[in-house]
Amino acid sequence: MTPGLAVLRNPARAWLLAAWALVLSACACEPVAPGSAMAHGLWLREHPQASPSQSNFYTCSTCHALTAASANARILPGAPLAGAIARPSFWGGQVRDLLPAINVCRFWFMDAKQPWLPEQAEARAVWAWLEVAAPALPEAVTWSAVGSISDVPAGQAAAGAQVYQAACANCHGKLHSGSGRISKQAPILPEEFLAEHQEYSPQDRRLIGIEKVRHGPFLGYGGRMPPFARQVLSDAQLADLLAYLGL
Ligand code: HEC
Ligand code: HEC
Repeated sequence: MTPGLAVLRNPARAWLLAAWALVLSACACEPVAPGSAMAHGLWLREHPQASPSQSNFYTCSTCHALTAASANARILPGAPLAGAIARPSFWGGQVRDLLPAINVCRFWFMDAKQPWLPEQAEARAVWAWLEVAAPALPEAVTWSAVGSISDVPAGQAAAGAQVYQAACANCHGKLHSGSGRISKQAPILPEEFLAEHQEYSPQDRRLIGIEKVRHGPFLGYGGRMPPFARQVLSDAQLADLLAYLGL
């Protein structure tokens, strides 16, 4: 079994229980649907309410652009969403169906305790706009989780500044100050990371930094930062980034 499959096993089990809890409690709490299903879906894409968790600070658009062009040179951990409805598989082939693929994001990143079920208003709403956004990129997206972590060669800090801006700044804000960060939960880099890991040697801290970027919350790391696959962030870019971060 690939490490990625093991990654996705636990939430699947949690959701089975969650789905039953939902059926049994027959919750009468209706979501607020602004206008049509389409409008509701677009609203869900841009609002943290795509998860009911008070502690969620992400929207779908934090990590996904609509198309590769609309990513505007940003390095986003998630694939463009246009065309997703027509793709044969998701998460690098680990997830067969679209709604479970979305629920992976909601569970791991957005702290949603219960998956959207197919008949639910939210699921239908997301479908409504995804159907319209269908034509682009209908083939499966190449994505593979990086399993075991190894060091990367020394990089260039100047190039790393650009990588940081494109891949990390949206959530972590400016280097050294964190100004503009998405939440105080995203640590100020590198200071808060160094303070958290002062008992480690510089070499081990570097490897921990690499592991965080490659695994996100998966494979035992925890937290809610998304993983960056090599398809979106190469080892050379990561090397430059580490030089910029001083790790
Ligand atoms: C914190 C970042 C993050 C957030 C927030 C997030 N995702 Fe994802 N999503 C990812 C990553 C990383 C992947 C795995 C790489 C990939 O396949 O796109 C992924 C995968 C997916 C996929 C599978 C894409 C494919 O073709 O493999 C879909 C569909 C998806 N997300 C939809 C959503 C929707 C809808 C939301 C909002 C409800 C959302 N995501 C929120 C990061 C995120
Ligand atoms: C979508 C938002 C998001 C993006 C993009 C993001 N991070 Fe994070 N990062 C977080 C959050 C939230 C945390 C704190 C929670 C956690 O550990 O997952 C975090 C934590 C970290 C940590 C601390 C890990 C620890 O154990 O103390 C490091 C280092 C880090 N991020 C580096 C990066 C780098 C480098 C990039 C760019 C490649 C990046 N992050 C991109 C949201 C993000």
